[in-house]
Amino acid sequence: MKRILVTGGAGFISSNMIRYLLHETPHDVVTMDALTYAGNLANLADVNDHPRLRFIHGDIRDVADVTAALEGVDVIVNAAAESHVSKSITEGGAEFVTTNVVGTQVLLDAMRTNPVERFILISSSEVYGTAVTDPMDEDHPLNPRSPYAGTKAGGDRLAYAYWCTYAQPITIIRPFNNYGPYQHPEKVIPRFIIQALCDHPLTIHGDGHASRDWLHVFDTAEAITAACEVPVEGIVGETINVATGIDETVEQIADMILDSLGKPASLKRHVTEREGQVDRHIGSTDKAARLLGWRSQIPFAEGLERTIRWYRENPEWWQAVLASEQTAQAV
Ligand SMILES: NC(=O)c1ccc[n+]([C@@H]2O[C@H](COP(=O)([O-])OP(=O)(O)OC[C@H]3O[C@@H](n4cnc5c(N)ncnc54)[C@H](O)[C@@H]3O)[C@@H](O)[C@H]2O)c1
Repeated sequence: MKRILVTGGAGFISSNMIRYLLHETPHDVVTMDALTYAGNLANLADVNDHPRLRFIHGDIRDVADVTAALEGVDVIVNAAAESHVSKSITEGGAEFVTTNVVGTQVLLDAMRTNPVERFILISSSEVYGTAVTDPMDEDHPLNPRSPYAGTKAGGDRLAYAYWCTYAQPITIIRPFNNYGPYQHPEKVIPRFIIQALCDHPLTIHGDGHASRDWLHVFDTAEAITAACEVPVEGIVGETINVATGIDETVEQIADMILDSLGKPASLKRHVTEREGQVDRHIGSTDKAARLLGWRSQIPFAEGLERTIRWYRENPEWWQAVLASEQTAQAV
């Protein structure tokens, strides 16, 4: 049994990860979240009172918060981030740099004075930019194409440098595009589902040909948990993709969602291409299979159906998120 600090617990991936850890493993979980606009305590409502979960309202950029959170911790999983590509393009990179790079540095330095068994950095496939090989393996060049991706690459390589310099037990995980329950409606799959449920147009950047390797968040939770549990000697200093090896275009996803909900294709609206757009992403899966003993289990069509069902059955969750966004904009 370990004590695992998962940062960003009120966000999408971490809340699913925490639920997985509490239900499927014996580990204690501490989470620290700054509760930005993307942090939503409703994401943890069903496990809030769990005896093996402790929630701390704190900021990974704050040395005192981080030091307090690290007490008795064996494993750090740093998933807290500013995570929205479009926001980094329209609003600029300042918050992205401080949380994704400086926050990572604060945690890495804290580990030097409060040693832990292992540190798992949740990086992103966005660090690769558009695929120049198919699939993209962990040696693919890093050509981040948005401020978000640039800051994720910064945190990713900083963690690698700390492993080289201080021989700390650091592993870098690069998940490809996640989807599933509790994902903020700003991200494309929940946005399309909600737009379709409301009979609003599904806005598609460019001609919709951009493709991604889509991974159900339950698969990601399983992979990150494996990184917390496999013998640490096998993964220190390693960078590991977490992917399915299959890609789907944004246009295909819009069609699948409209079809599933019985809505007409005329709801699709093409708008101007997003700056910094990545054309194609498809991840290699061999290294995760070899080092973590993990491969994704949930085929995209099945995962998408489950996700559509979750958003259809939980309108109060996404309506509250949308209402709080409108209130924030009105202030
Ligand atoms: N969602 C994806 O498709 C995807 C894919 C690859 C990698 N990732 C990475 O996975 C991680 C989680 O992504 P997500 O989609 O769940 O993000 P999210 O935006 O849903 O959640 C991020 C959480 O971090 C918290 N946070 C932000 N700044 C913080 C700070 N300074 N201190 C403490 N907490 C802070 C927010 O309040 C929020 O709860 C991120 O590192 C992201 O870059 C996400």
